[in-house]
Amino acid sequence: MATTAAAMAATSVVVLDRGNNTTCTINLHGATVVSWRVNNQEQLFVSKLASFDGKKAIRGGIPFVFPQFGPWSFGPQHGFARITRWHLERAPDRLHNGDVEAIFSLMDNEFTRSIWNYQFRITYRLILREKELHFHIGVYNPSKELSFSFNMLLHTYLKVPDVRRCQITGLHGCHFIDKTRENALYQEGREVVTVNEWTDRIYQHTPQEHVITNVVSGRKMRLHKYNFPDTVIWNPWIDRSREMSDFGDDEFPNMLCVEAGNVTSPVILLPGTAFEASQILQIIIEGNVSRKTKRNR
Ligand code: BG6
Repeated sequence: MATTAAAMAATSVVVLDRGNNTTCTINLHGATVVSWRVNNQEQLFVSKLASFDGKKAIRGGIPFVFPQFGPWSFGPQHGFARITRWHLERAPDRLHNGDVEAIFSLMDNEFTRSIWNYQFRITYRLILREKELHFHIGVYNPSKELSFSFNMLLHTYLKVPDVRRCQITGLHGCHFIDKTRENALYQEGREVVTVNEWTDRIYQHTPQEHVITNVVSGRKMRLHKYNFPDTVIWNPWIDRSREMSDFGDDEFPNMLCVEAGNVTSPVILLPGTAFEASQILQIIIEGNVSRKTKRNR
């Protein structure tokens, strides 16, 4: 790929282009994935009122939550990583199999230390495949003396035609903290979870895989995660949408947040050690087999 890291450093957006109108766009503000198009179909929701002023978190796409999930007495809600400019460590590069990867990084700086006085280094590697987007995260603690603990979460906003028609698998039997009911703890009794009202739940010890039905074009999306024990399900619905200045009042039916993370038990990182986690989003293509079978009848 022609673009160099130096050329891209001047811009705020990095594009991975796999051909066939399959692209992934990352805004260096928060290393926020702001678009993932597969054969020209956008898979992620970004609000029409999202702010790109480099101050607020971008409302939509996949903001990177670190080192805090939720409100924080030391600093901004959901931490500083989503409002800090990241560094492009490796410009988009085509791999031998046609996939395209790029690597982003974030290190402690004056701003982060003024909020949270620890040294850290995060590398965030994204790989765009034909129908998949891979996320590999490493956090390193370079300190010789100090440990730190952190939350981390990929705040994925899926674009959906109608959230009321989506089903989420893999949550049956899991305990969840319901933020809409004063953080009470419940156990999920449904085989598949649906969203028909304001929903803000932290499901704990969830399995490595969820399938979300009825995403773009009525397809299914698989979310596979490693070292992310919690799954947050969020949709603000009508009243909460009105309270957000960067979210349209009528947009809630078109998004569903399914967020993989370490939320309820923070990760503790000892001096000189590293933590790794990853996620894969995969569009499930169905129908070929059954169409063939029908034709052969
Ligand atoms: C979710 C939280 O992850 O993010 C919700 O569970 C929160 O409580 C939502 O409202 C959006 O947060 P923010 O800071 O981007 O408005």
